[in-house]
Amino acid sequence: MATQLIILAAGQGTRMLSDTPKVLHRIGGAPMFAHALDAGSVLEPGRTVLVVGHGAEAVEAAAREIDPGIAVAVQKKQLGTAHAVLCAADALADAGGDSVVLYGDTPFIRPETLEAMKAARQAQDIVVLGFEAADPARYGRLVTEGGTLLRIVEFKDATPAERDIRLCNSGVVMADTALLFRLAGAVGNDNAAGEYYLTDIVALARAEGLSATVVTCDEAETMGVNSRADLAAAEAAFQTRRRTEALAEGVTLVAPETVFFAHDTWIGRDAVVEPNVVFGSCVTVETGARIRSFSHLEGCHVGSGATVGPFARLRPGTELANDAHVGNFVEIKNAEIGEGAKVNHLSYIGDASVGDGTNIGAGTITCNYDGVSKHRTEIGKRVFIGSDTMLVAPVKVGDDAMTATGSVVTRDVAPGDLAISRARQENKPGYALRLFEKLKAVKAKRQKGH
Ligand code: UD1
Ligand code: CA
Repeated sequence: MATQLIILAAGQGTRMLSDTPKVLHRIGGAPMFAHALDAGSVLEPGRTVLVVGHGAEAVEAAAREIDPGIAVAVQKKQLGTAHAVLCAADALADAGGDSVVLYGDTPFIRPETLEAMKAARQAQDIVVLGFEAADPARYGRLVTEGGTLLRIVEFKDATPAERDIRLCNSGVVMADTALLFRLAGAVGNDNAAGEYYLTDIVALARAEGLSATVVTCDEAETMGVNSRADLAAAEAAFQTRRRTEALAEGVTLVAPETVFFAHDTWIGRDAVVEPNVVFGSCVTVETGARIRSFSHLEGCHVGSGATVGPFARLRPGTELANDAHVGNFVEIKNAEIGEGAKVNHLSYIGDASVGDGTNIGAGTITCNYDGVSKHRTEIGKRVFIGSDTMLVAPVKVGDDAMTATGSVVTRDVAPGDLAISRARQENKPGYALRLFEKLKAVKAKRQKGH
């Protein structure tokens, strides 16, 4: 029977001081709740229910973009975590199996940890994820006896002796789906916060003779985000983890602390990433490619053995074939650059295709926008585009063709042809010297006048 996923994300996140719902703030370029979804995916969930409240519509829209099949349950008033879980009951009415509760604002639970909880569930009715807190602060405390979890007490309701407990509640809990809803429905709100605490299900279960235990994880996994400072700390933690992973996967990072990854960055082994590189969403870099310093990549694919930068910008829809070269101060958008092709200096290539082995001269621009619509430029194989060519799209340059330096190309160029479109040069003997004399005389006269 499949495991179901319930992600609580109804809270306001007041301390973010934001018009954006907390769980839509991004870590590694993905909304916070997507990280919880991602961790939960290791359990191959049958159904996933996102419980939303504050900013429900925006959160729902973002969730559907990531997982069109996700169920969304609305919690109109945030009456507590047990009440939030109950809001998912309709969506999981006949789902069966186990359910695991995750928080949308706790992005770092590792898949391995959820697997450990699943293993522990074999022998226990309720499994709670706990951690030894360096500073237990206001976390709920796990009251245990041997390997048994007796109950969870919220900080506000804890006695001084209970507050001394260092084993804290992460909020992640796993139980049989029907049992979870039955117990959550039995929870009252007679406590210091006047809330329906999900944590109370442990004591209720124990009173029925059911079993409960704790699986522990590293405190870092339970890091929650409540403020902008937490968000920055979470981003830093995310980056540290991704850098470590990249190194472990055989990627060379010359200065790891200066490279920024997105949640879905994929880099093949033996790729080299030089200092100060930023990866936006949806980037794949094949083996042996080199991303040189100060480059910014987003929504692109870099083929094996290709080089990018320094100071290059690859925008969405860029496809670099194997061994392509993109050099300094080059921007590429929605364009395929063929195998071994070179765009080495100061160019903009947008809405274009560049064939294998073609060389794009310095300062070349595809003029893709006429102020109203975008148009394509198609450049064939083994073409030589002279420096400072303006390619006014829509336009095609055939295989083995050439454009002369400084040309403005407005008409298609047939394969093998040379396009030259610039004023013919005229030299005027001695004119420069005479012009200098004249200009100096004007300047001298002006200075006398002052
Ligand atoms: C909760 C736990 C506490 C644990 C801590 C870990 C309870 C009663 N307490 O406390 O034991 O140590 O998390 O961080 O469960 N939410 C809703 N609807 C609600 C209330 C909360 O969706 O009505 C969501 C929030 O958006 C958040 C999560 O549930 O993602 C946790 O809620 P929060 O209010 O932060 O719980 P804590 O008081 O921190
Ligand atoms: Ca919290």
